[in-house]
Amino acid sequence: MKTPAELATEQAAYWNGPGGKGWLASIERIEQGIGDFGKAALVAANAQPGEKVIDVGCGLGGTTRALAEAVGPQGRVLGVDISEELVASARSHRVPNATFVLGNAATHPFEAAGYDLVFSRFGVMFFGDPVAAFRNFQQALKPSGRLVFICWRTPNENPWGLVPVRAAAPFLPPLPRPGPEDPGQFAFGDRVRVERILKEAGFGALSFKPLDQLVFMGKSVADILASAGRFGPLARAFADATPEQIEKAKAAIAEALTPHETAEGVRLPGACWLVTARASAG
Ligand SMILES: C[S@@+](CC[C@H](N)C(=O)[O-])C[C@H]1O[C@@H](n2cnc3c(N)ncnc32)[C@H](O)[C@@H]1O
Repeated sequence: MKTPAELATEQAAYWNGPGGKGWLASIERIEQGIGDFGKAALVAANAQPGEKVIDVGCGLGGTTRALAEAVGPQGRVLGVDISEELVASARSHRVPNATFVLGNAATHPFEAAGYDLVFSRFGVMFFGDPVAAFRNFQQALKPSGRLVFICWRTPNENPWGLVPVRAAAPFLPPLPRPGPEDPGQFAFGDRVRVERILKEAGFGALSFKPLDQLVFMGKSVADILASAGRFGPLARAFADATPEQIEKAKAAIAEALTPHETAEGVRLPGACWLVTARASAG
């Protein structure tokens, strides 16, 4: 079993390698896929003028900018991300009340009891030691502070992620098989586990709202195939595969996705938790 430090190192390497590059290259498509989930999280966060906010795993900073607008000139937003390339892009927008830190949010020395809100859009599922990470966020919050994040539910509830991987897997070298508690995009699918993490970290008043909607995956099957294996679970398998294996895997993905192709693009069901909590367990 890998140690939390080894898991964190792996995640840092992934987000500074194929993960970050893939996110940057595909951001328009990603926004079409997950934008509505993110908007729901921003509505739940309800950031107010003058508030101080942390955006965990802020990526290219789209939500950081939305939060900066909501808190206004008297407020401040700190975006934290471990990917150098994504932080560089986020900084380039030069929003006066938003700053960005390149680093591990799990261990970053935030000002203690200095923030009203810790927010994240799909950026909290990648910690080697999630209890320690959320304890760090809990300590950064004022006693009246709140936590709001959105994360994926289980792979079975998210065919947009599962269908291409299941179709391609038989034709590729063995795919990584993360343990149920290993960091990754579906690591927070199990509500009971997330509740345990948040409670152990000191959070209270937990709320889990299920959000379900179709996820846009691309304009067409051909569009999806053009970037298949660029990042995500198929990236490593594609990197180790022969051209013949890749061709067969892509044909299988095409067969699985073609029934879902419409004039509005290819969409498959997606399922998230919108999680809110208070900094104080009392
Ligand atoms: C799925 S992406 C989401 C990015 C952004 N929140 C969005 O919705 O566009 C996950 C992000 O978390 C970042 N990340 C992963 N582990 C992290 C860590 N330990 N500390 C800070 N950021 C991390 C990645 O670099 C990546 O930008």
